[in-house]
Amino acid sequence: MLQDVLHEFGPSFGVLSIPDPSTLESMPEKNRSLWLSTTSSVPSLLDASQSWRGGAPRVRELVMDTLQKIESSDSATAAHHSESQFCVNFQGEVDETVDPRVVISQLVDADHNKTAFLTGLRLSIVDDLGFRVPPDICRLFEPFSESNNQVNLTPKYSFVDLHIDYGADGLSIPVGDSRKIWLLWPPTSSNLRAMKTVDGQRGRLARLAPQLEGCVVVETTSAQAIHIPAASLHATFTLQGGFLVTRDFTTSNSLMAISTLLSNGLDENLPPEARTVCFEWFERCLDISITHRKISEAVSAWLRAETKLASWAYSQRAWRVSVRRVFCQPLYLNTFVFPLFFSTTTPSL
Ligand SMILES: [Fe+2]
Repeated sequence: MLQDVLHEFGPSFGVLSIPDPSTLESMPEKNRSLWLSTTSSVPSLLDASQSWRGGAPRVRELVMDTLQKIESSDSATAAHHSESQFCVNFQGEVDETVDPRVVISQLVDADHNKTAFLTGLRLSIVDDLGFRVPPDICRLFEPFSESNNQVNLTPKYSFVDLHIDYGADGLSIPVGDSRKIWLLWPPTSSNLRAMKTVDGQRGRLARLAPQLEGCVVVETTSAQAIHIPAASLHATFTLQGGFLVTRDFTTSNSLMAISTLLSNGLDENLPPEARTVCFEWFERCLDISITHRKISEAVSAWLRAETKLASWAYSQRAWRVSVRRVFCQPLYLNTFVFPLFFSTTTPSL
């Protein structure tokens, strides 16, 4: 798979310098342990057909919906990126001055030197067809708080640099003839510290590839849905253009990953709206962990990021009230845990 990336994209992305990359099938036990000890699961592939209650959309339907979204997009909001507004990426950078219809033209005539792609499209057809996390995932864990359906339109040669999806677990499914190669790393402290050194900068994969641990390489076509575990680092290369449909969720095993993400300061360079999303995922995951009586895991995760969480609680009243409610759920926690975390670090309600 990496040879395919080299052939189509060249050597400048650093894939040759990745130490000991494996596939899901050939993953050594050492790397499996890194994944299982730091996040919800190892990445996995699932039957994509189970993800659509009403059957997968046709590419032409997604193209029509995308054109409609482009036509109705508000130029005022396009100039100020928001989580609810799609984003145009051109030659590796977000560029809202580029006509988004260029991306559709590149679906049928890819341009290696001026590749453009769209992220964050909210298309009604995805909701209408009942997009969901496939029930088969329950072999691994129960998905909670499923939300945030988005669509990316990525022509051939689209490269999405190394990033983390705000702490949520993710499900992604290519639609049509799309083919992608995913490089994923577990959110170990070492990997997240490295990620912090290039936070907000370009060329992240090329710069970090030699030093990250636990790389797994995965190929997806429209037959497979990929689970991206919470806070994992990942980059993608599109070998055959098309749409990618994504959905977020969390699990009762994801809390430590989100906590490690926050304790390493990887929320700090995000836009305010995205930063809020990180803390919302922490709160949801904390709620799920405590509801499932994973008390020691919840306490450990809180302590790992305590300074950061206390600071956020101090300035965000609504979040503070919600988290206090979560900690107060079990009566015995009201006495022993709640005062430790809140009464000395946050203002009274
Ligand atoms: Fe992502």
